[in-house]
Amino acid sequence: IPVEVFDLVIFGATGDLARRKILPGLYLRWLAGQILPEARVIGAARAELSDAEFRASVAAAIAEYVPPARQDAAALAGFLDRLSYVAIDATGDKGWAQLRAVVRPDVVQAFYFSVAPTLFGAIAGRLTAHGIAGPEARIVVEKPFGRDLASARALNAALAQHFAESQIYRIDHYLGKETVQNLMAVRFANILFEPLWNSQYVDHVQITVAETVGVEGRGVYYDKAGAMRDMVQNHIMQLLCLIAMEPPYHFDPDAVRDEKLKVIRALDPVRPEDIVRGQYLAGGGKGGYLEDADNRNSRTESYIALKLHISNWRWKGTPFYLRTGKRLRARESEIAITFREPPHSIFDDHSGWRENVLVIRLQPDEGMNLKVMIKEPGPGGMRLVQVPLDMSFAEALGEALDDVPDAYERLIMDVIRGNQTLFMRGDEVEAAWAWTDPVIGGWEARGEKPQPYEPGTSGPEDALMLMHRDNRRWREIRS
Ligand code: BG6
Repeated sequence: IPVEVFDLVIFGATGDLARRKILPGLYLRWLAGQILPEARVIGAARAELSDAEFRASVAAAIAEYVPPARQDAAALAGFLDRLSYVAIDATGDKGWAQLRAVVRPDVVQAFYFSVAPTLFGAIAGRLTAHGIAGPEARIVVEKPFGRDLASARALNAALAQHFAESQIYRIDHYLGKETVQNLMAVRFANILFEPLWNSQYVDHVQITVAETVGVEGRGVYYDKAGAMRDMVQNHIMQLLCLIAMEPPYHFDPDAVRDEKLKVIRALDPVRPEDIVRGQYLAGGGKGGYLEDADNRNSRTESYIALKLHISNWRWKGTPFYLRTGKRLRARESEIAITFREPPHSIFDDHSGWRENVLVIRLQPDEGMNLKVMIKEPGPGGMRLVQVPLDMSFAEALGEALDDVPDAYERLIMDVIRGNQTLFMRGDEVEAAWAWTDPVIGGWEARGEKPQPYEPGTSGPEDALMLMHRDNRRWREIRS
C-alpha cells in the first residue's frame, strides 16, 4: 500500500549515509510501488549542484549500492524525476528561501538530518524561522545522538526548542531490522516462551554482535567513540530492551518505549571486573586498530564484553552478557537465552546432558534455534543427546523474505506513516547515556588500556574468563 504523498528533504544529501542507505532505500520503495508519483525528494547540501547533477549522482549511488537484480532503468528514471536539489548553508542564510518555495505545506513533510549533530540545532531553527516546517512536520536524526549524557541532553534541548517530541524520529537502524522486530513477535505472539522468560527459568542471556570489518576510513569518528558508544549504548541496548522488557499493553509507540525505558533504568552500574575491552592487532594483510585510527596511543576499544544485571522483579539473578567487536572471526549477531536445568533428573545418563538454549539469529541467515534434549536413537538404553530444532526464516517463509525492506527503507516509510514505535524517544536515549557515562568514566579514571587481540578470532582472552569465572561459556562465533 503506498504511503501518503510527501516531501522529504535530505540535509547532507551528498554525504555517505545518503548515498549508501537513504537514497537507494527510497529507490527500492519506489520500485516496490510504495511511493506515489506526487511524492518529492529534495536533496539539500552545501555543494553547488543543479538538479541534473544531483540526479546523476543519485543514479550513480543506486548503481553502486542497489543489488543488480533490483536495478531497473525505467523505475530509476521515474524515481529520479521525483528528485530536486537546493544548495544550502546550514548555519547561514543561503538556500532557505528557495527551500521554502519548493516544500509544499499541504503534504506530509519530513526533514532528514543526515549531518553532523553539531548542525541539528541550526537546521531545526532555520526550518521553523523560515516557516518551512509546518506543525505536523517530522524530523529524522541519526546517531551518534550525543557522546555522553550532557551532549545528548543538549541535542534534545536544541531540537525541543523547535519541534515537539511527537515530531522527532531518532534513528537506531537496528530497530528497523526484520529479525529485531521479530523478537517482539516471538515473545508476545506465542504463549510458549513468556512463562519461562524470567530469572526463575533463565540462567543467563548472551547477546553477540560480531563484525569482520575494521574501522577503516572511519577512524577519526570511531577513535572518539569506541565500541561502547558506537554499538552498546544504542544498538545492543535496544536488543537488550526488547529481550528484557515487560509486555507493553499494546504495540503502540509510547507503550513500547515506556517498557524499554524501564529496563534501561533498572540496569545496575557495571563492576570494573565485568568489563573487558580489546583492540585488534594487525593481521591478514591489514593494519591494526592503531593504524586504522591513525593514533599510536589510542586507548579506544574496538571490542567490548560486559556482564550486566537488571535489578527488577523479573530479572534479578539472571546475568546478561554482551559482546561486540570489529575484525572478529565472522559477521554474526545473535541472542541466546540459556535456560536453567530441570529441577530433578530421572535419568542416570548425564553424559550428553546440556541446558535448553533458544538462539535468535539476527544476521546473517535470520532464524531461530531451540536446543532440546531427546533420547539418542539405538539400543543403548536411555542415553540423552541434545539436538537443534532449527528454523531459518528464509526457508520457512520462502519468497516472502525476498522483498523484505532493509532497515533504512522500513524506517523512512515509518516516518512518512507517522509511526514512532521503532524510533528512540528522548528520555530513552538520555537514560542509556546515564547508564553508559559512569562505565566509560570508570575505565578512563582507572587509566585502563584495551587488550590487544588477533584479528579473525573471537576477541581478547579475558573475555573468555568473564564467562569461565561464572562456569559458563560464550557461544562460538562460527566462521
Ligand atoms: C553502525 C556502527 O551504527 O552499525 C558501525 O557505527 C557498525 O560501526 C554498524 O559497523 C553495524 O551495523 P550492521 O547493520 O552492519 O550490523
